[in-house]
Formats: sequence, C-alpha cells, structure tokens
Amino acid sequence: MNLEIDQKRLLSELETLATISDAVPPAVTRIVFTPTDLRARAWIIARCEEAGLAVRQDAIGNILARWNGADAAAPAVGTGSHIDAIPNAGKYDGVVGVLGGLEAIRALQRSGLRPKNSIELLVFATEEPTRFGIGCLGSRLLSGTLSAGAAAKLKDGDGESVDDVRRKAGFGGKLEDVQLQKGYYKAFVELHIEQGPLLERSKTSLGIVTRIAAPASLRVSIEGAGGHAGGVLMPDRKDALCAAAELILAAEHAARSSGAVDTVATVGICEVFPGAINSIPSRVKITLDIRDTDLARRDSVMQTIEQTSLSLSQKRGVSIQSELLNADAPAECAREVRAALSDACRKRGFPFLEMVSRAYHDSLFMSRIAPTGMLFIPCRNGYSHRPDEYAAPEDIARGALVLAEALAKLSSSSQ
Ligand code: GLV
Ligand code: MN
Ligand code: MN
Repeated sequence: MNLEIDQKRLLSELETLATISDAVPPAVTRIVFTPTDLRARAWIIARCEEAGLAVRQDAIGNILARWNGADAAAPAVGTGSHIDAIPNAGKYDGVVGVLGGLEAIRALQRSGLRPKNSIELLVFATEEPTRFGIGCLGSRLLSGTLSAGAAAKLKDGDGESVDDVRRKAGFGGKLEDVQLQKGYYKAFVELHIEQGPLLERSKTSLGIVTRIAAPASLRVSIEGAGGHAGGVLMPDRKDALCAAAELILAAEHAARSSGAVDTVATVGICEVFPGAINSIPSRVKITLDIRDTDLARRDSVMQTIEQTSLSLSQKRGVSIQSELLNADAPAECAREVRAALSDACRKRGFPFLEMVSRAYHDSLFMSRIAPTGMLFIPCRNGYSHRPDEYAAPEDIARGALVLAEALAKLSSSSQ
C-alpha cells in the first residue's frame, strides 16, 4: 500500500477553515450553531462530498461522513474530532483530527485500498462547553451518556435551550435518534494536538494515549451583601468576591496537594456584580473545572471544595450554591486501537510516547460504546486554547499518516 499524505493540501485546508471565524486572526472563535459555525460545517461537508463520502447530519448536528467498505453491513471504523472553537482559541484544536482524518481517508483512497469495514469521519457537535456549559454534547448523545431529555433542556447564556437553538440552526429530528446502535463502531480513533508540553519536551513527534482524565465542572454562585466601598466598615462586610477568592485558592490548594501532577483545578469564569470600583461585590458567579486521571482523587478534591463552601458561608455570612454540570469517569484506551497505532508507528520508524490525555475529548464518550484510542502530535510550548496555538506541518502530516495506517489496519483485520 503506497500511502502518502498531501501535506500541502491539508495545510491549506487548515488555513482556510481558520478564516471562517469570529475573531481577529490569528485567533479563532467558532461557537456552535452561530452563522460562522454553520458556514464552517458547510465547507467541511463540501470537502467530504468531494472525497466521495456519504454525508449525514444528526439532530444535534454531528456530521457523519462515510466511505463505504466492502462489507457495508459490518461495523464501521470511526475517526474525527470537532471544529467548534472557544473564544480566542487557535486553529488546531479539534481541526487537526477532522481535516487530518479526512486527508487520511483520501490517502487511503489514493492508495487503492478497499476497506472491509466502512470508514466514517465524525465531526462532533459542540465539543466545547462555551455555549451550553457542558462539553461533548454530540458524543454524549451518540454514546447515550446523556439522555435526549436532559440535553434538550440545557440553556445557553441567553437562556435559549439546546432544543430551540439547534432547530433554529436547521437541525430538526429527534434527539433520541442521535444515539448509535450498540456495535455501530468496530473502533474509534481520534487525532489531536497534545495540548500539553510533554511530546515537545521529549522531542517525540507522536503520542499514543493510554487513558483520558476524568473531568468535572461546577457552577458556583455566591450571594453576599453589597454596599458603599467607603461607607461599609470592614467587620460589617459580606463581600461575595472575597469569599470567591478564598474558594478559588482552596481549590488550587486541594489540587496542588493531592500528591499527583494529574490533579488539576481551574476557575475560568468569574462574574462580579455589580462590577463597580466603589461598590462591594454582592454576587459572584464562578465556574470550577476539576480533572484527574484517578476518579477517587478527583472526587476528593470536589469534596474539599464542598466542605470549604460550607465553612466559608458560615465564616463570611454569605450563601453559596453549587450546580454540578458534569462529573465523568476516566476512559481507558482500547488495547487493539493502541496496537494499531503503535504498529503503524513502528512500521514507519516513528518513535512514540505512551501518555495520558489530561484534556477531555469526544473519545472519552466514544470509549463507552466502542474500542477507542487517540493519537497526539506536539503543539508548540504545549499552548492550546489560545491564538498562538501551533502545530508544525510535518507533525500534522505524520499524525495523518499514522492515522491512515491505523484506519487501514482496523478496517480490514478480522478481529
Ligand atoms: C476540551 O476542550 C477540554 O477542555 O479538555
Ligand atoms: Mn478545546
Ligand atoms: Mn479539542
């Protein structure tokens, strides 16, 4: 099999997709179901159709583009990632797995391979939690991890429900129908930038993921008492922001003192009301994002945060309400998918590192319904979720090549 990646075309597609954005370049912002996201999807669908793939979109907006195999009734081999991007993001997160997956399929087609199992490219809808507060809605529904009823009711920042937003964007049909039949996929494999510094530091251009960390997130609302920044004496205050500050530092401390580098905690949103220089904050809303490869350790950080909230509300006379957005278990990557990836690396003479994924991905949920694996490529300084995110063209092409080899193996072996 003569497999070759068209690096020039892949890179030029990556640049073109980056221009479909709501941010000033090099930043990329593509929030799900906005007109910009819809234009990006239409562009991707056109590329899939050019490659002769049969495209369907489901009720939540997942795109499934299939290259039919010789045994069309057999379970498919899936690959893909997402194209939505958080505000002020870069151009590689998710996109490398979508366009790299598409180029891997085109390379297999050019090589003359006729796969036994169909190979399906997935563009997952709403991987980022930006709009609806919870990530991976598309893969949660595909895998049945989240019920259609619960998904439909989630709201965006303007109070519009998922159900209304997706219908307005042109995605009708029943959310119940998004869930895939058991055994739909024989295997699933996602190519992604590492979003951390380990590959670059070890000068290794490929990473094979062994395990995906368990993410959890909370919305916390703190109600204190406002007032005049000059008039209210310090002993009389119920400053909601001071309470939030203590809670944020307690979360940081709990993660730092867990005994493992795999425990991380982040407060990424802090809204202060009324937000005036001479007014005591009466209300603060924060989000907490807590992750670990070890479920018990992650949950123990969450318990510490809960206990701290209780003691802070007594100590500071504020009320603290928490809403759990998600608390997912970690995933083990499947032996057969890891083997397909490591065999491909060995065949090509590419060194690789086995590593955990600290970021979550749609693969976390695909692993609940199919043997799943992930392939990482380095990104400069480990930067991601920022405009200067960068992956080298050779690394992107190498990742697509190894992905193509692995897809060939998974789609024709009889295991
Ligand atoms: C995905 O974008 C994550 O936050 O891990
Ligand atoms: Mn991301
Ligand atoms: Mn991603």
